[in-house]
Amino acid sequence: MSNLTAAEKKIPSVDRGPFICHVDDKGFTVICRTDMPAEKLLLSWRMPEETTLRQNAEISRPGGVDHVFKATGDFSGKMPVDLQIIRGCDGKVLENAASPSATAVPYLFNPGSESISVGWKSSAECAGAVEYRLAGSSRIMRKNALFTGNPATGIAHIVHLDGLLPQTAYEYRVLALNPVNGKAYGYSSWYSFTTLKRNSGGCRMVFFSDIHADMDTFKKLSAVLAPEKADFAVLAGDLCWDGVYETDGKPLFEDFLNFSNAAFASGVPTVFMRGNHEWAGKYSFEWAKWFPGCNGKTYGAFRAGECCFVVLDTGPIGNYQPGTPAGDYIAEQKEWLEKTVMPSAMFTTARYRIVLAHMPTHGIPNAPLLEKSFAELFNRGKVQLMIVGHVHRYMRINRNDNGCYGTDYYTIWDESNPPRSALDKNYTLVINGGGPDENGIFATALELCASADNITVKAVKKDGSTVDEFRVLPDGKVENISPTKRFNFRGKYKK
Ligand SMILES: [Fe+2]
Repeated sequence: MSNLTAAEKKIPSVDRGPFICHVDDKGFTVICRTDMPAEKLLLSWRMPEETTLRQNAEISRPGGVDHVFKATGDFSGKMPVDLQIIRGCDGKVLENAASPSATAVPYLFNPGSESISVGWKSSAECAGAVEYRLAGSSRIMRKNALFTGNPATGIAHIVHLDGLLPQTAYEYRVLALNPVNGKAYGYSSWYSFTTLKRNSGGCRMVFFSDIHADMDTFKKLSAVLAPEKADFAVLAGDLCWDGVYETDGKPLFEDFLNFSNAAFASGVPTVFMRGNHEWAGKYSFEWAKWFPGCNGKTYGAFRAGECCFVVLDTGPIGNYQPGTPAGDYIAEQKEWLEKTVMPSAMFTTARYRIVLAHMPTHGIPNAPLLEKSFAELFNRGKVQLMIVGHVHRYMRINRNDNGCYGTDYYTIWDESNPPRSALDKNYTLVINGGGPDENGIFATALELCASADNITVKAVKKDGSTVDEFRVLPDGKVENISPTKRFNFRGKYKK
């Protein structure tokens, strides 16, 4: 609805544009449309590195609603920025099209030994690209963000880089591009990352979950574990305050991306996982717009040295069944795991097989279909470790065990949600404590270090103290290093 007064409505306003539609060495062309015929409109613009607006180009054919401005001059092919349309009769600025910037800090995701994904949010709609090079090299390569061959114009920009060398340092920057002619509005700073090891060697992973937009907890746990020095990081869901209720990634950036990008995710590949809270909200579907897997999904698998990591999307809380949207998504992942991942060399040749997810298959699950769908597969695939969040309490449930380190089952379950047995599970389950601190519950984050001999897992609090530390051997056997309190199960398991 127009904000103009009745008197003003007798004079035109802009309802489409202004858009830059052509640029060459002699100048550029801008188009716009008004809601009624206009006799006189003026265009002002600012060139890059200039601080003031230049005057003016007039419409070439007065009296219509579709307007063309031709600005001529020696601009050396540069793009104008900050376009303004000014009404000739009264000098009122009708439209101010600020130029997009590439100042946003990008994030790296979909970790890999020969590939990585780069995401960022621009200040206005534009096309995007990533320029990258071997660290120290002057040979710059570029990959544009495309959709079916066209520039993918918007504020969400995703570029999947592939053909990279394993365990190799790269530098990269992101570009805001004019989608019409491909010229750059601007560049970000240069950032760097190192690809993962391909088949052999260890890795260091840090794991956060259930931050719920509590930046104090996130910052303190990050200060303890230094994710910027990890091979990759994991943000395992429930990172939002409570769901995705606003569009354009607003809650994602405000709740965790602005911090994680600045602290580590611009240089450390990060696994962004959906928790049940990211499944909630009017715009929950936007998650995949900002964190699409290379397969277009929110689940995947990758190799980091001798470890194969399987990332699952465990869906919303609830007793959802096959035939429901969430149930079908679990069924799809089960089939993918069984038919694609488990027979692959990536999985079968790995010394360690580790599942990362938001919700657990057992212990205290809130989605019973997970156990039914995955537990037998994990046993058959000789998965040694499953690492999750969601419960807001640190728990370690060793394989084939009837006890729990960290938290007494009896404090967190009732008859409506009885614990699920670990006696028939051949993999150890670690539930990160997440955050924030409340009512005697404390936030934790995890560090996993893999070597040829074993995997060590350490859970820490934000004061830097260690809650639990143990190792897992290649055959799945668990050894305590600095264990937390153990609670024997005293009731009847649900099977
Ligand atoms: Fe959760």
